[in-house]
Amino acid sequence: MKSQIKRVQGKALEEIAAAESVSALNEIRTRVFGRSGSFALLNRLLKETPEEERPLFGRLLGDLRRIVTTSLKRKESLLGKEGDQAVIGDLDLTLPGTASEYGAAHPLTCLLNHAVAILHRMGFSCATGPDIETEWRCFDALNTPNDHPARNEKNTFYLQDGRLLRTHTSTIQIRTMERQLPPVRVFGSGAAYRRDEVNATHLIQFHQLEGLYVSKDVTLADLKGAIVFFFRELFGQEAEIRFRPHFFPFTVPSYEIDVRATVVGDGWLELAGCGMIDPAVFEAVSTKRGDRAYSPEKVSGFAFGIGLERLTMALNGIADIRLLTENDIRFLSQFR
Ligand code: DAH
Repeated sequence: MKSQIKRVQGKALEEIAAAESVSALNEIRTRVFGRSGSFALLNRLLKETPEEERPLFGRLLGDLRRIVTTSLKRKESLLGKEGDQAVIGDLDLTLPGTASEYGAAHPLTCLLNHAVAILHRMGFSCATGPDIETEWRCFDALNTPNDHPARNEKNTFYLQDGRLLRTHTSTIQIRTMERQLPPVRVFGSGAAYRRDEVNATHLIQFHQLEGLYVSKDVTLADLKGAIVFFFRELFGQEAEIRFRPHFFPFTVPSYEIDVRATVVGDGWLELAGCGMIDPAVFEAVSTKRGDRAYSPEKVSGFAFGIGLERLTMALNGIADIRLLTENDIRFLSQFR
C-alpha cells in the first residue's frame, strides 16, 4: 500500500512538472482526485487494510493529497502568469486608445425635462398611462361621440381586440380620475398615434404633454394664469401668450394656445390645446367610479395638452420632423 501511494504521488508530481497548460493540469487533477481517480481507489484500498496499519496509510494518503494539491496550485498560477505575459507582450501602451462617444439627451427629452421641472414647481405630479388604450378612455369618457372623425379607422390604429394606440395623452386624465380622489394636479406625457401621411410636419407617432387640475371652484382665470406662467417660465418673461377659441369635445370653453417669443422664431406659434373640463367628462368618470367624487356639481377643473415635436422644432430651428426619429448621429450630436 505504501509503495502504491508513493507511486501515485511521484507520478502526479512528475506530470505536473511537465504540464504546459492549465487544461493539462485539470486533466491531471481529474486523474488523481476525480470520482474514479487514483486517490479514490487508494481510499477504497485503505478500508481493506488491517486495522493496525490504517493510521499510517491514512496519514500517507493525507500527505499525498496535500502535496499534490499544493503542487497543482503552484504550477497553475505559474502558467497563468506566463499566459498573461504572452498577451501583454504585444501590447503597446503608448498607442492612442479607442475613444468612446458620449451620449446626450434627445432634443425632445431636453424639452420635456425642462417643462416637467416647471410643472413640478407649480405643484403638478407625474401620472402615467399605457400607449395601448381602450376606446372608452380615448374617446367615450372624453365626450367624443361615435361619429367623430378621430374614431374612424382611417385616422386611428385599432388592435384586433378593439383597443387602440391612443390618439392623444388625454387618456391619462381619465386614468387619473378613475383611481384618485380630487383634488388632482397631475401631468402626463408620452407617445400618441395617428394615421397621418408621414411628411416634413407629420409623423404617425408623436409626443404630448398633458396637464390636469381638478378641485373645488377652479375657474378659467386659474387656467389662464397657469398657462401664462408655464409658457413664460419656458420661453422667457417677454413671451406673449394668446388664447384662441376652439372646439374640443372634452373641454368647454376650449382654446388653442399660441405663443410668440424670440426663442421660437418670429410669428405666432400654435402650441397647445386647453379648456375647462366638460361636465360630460366628469359624469363619465363618475359612472365608471360608481361614486359622486367627481360630480360636476362638486368639482371643476382645467386641462391642457401640448405637442412636443413642433415645439422642439421651433426651439431648435429644425425644418423636418422626421429628423427627430431617424437617429442620425450627425443630427443628434448637434444637441449636446
Ligand atoms: N387632446 C388634444 C389633442 O390631441 C389636446 C388637448 C386639448 C388636450 C385640450 C387637453 C385639452 O387636455 O384640455 O389635440
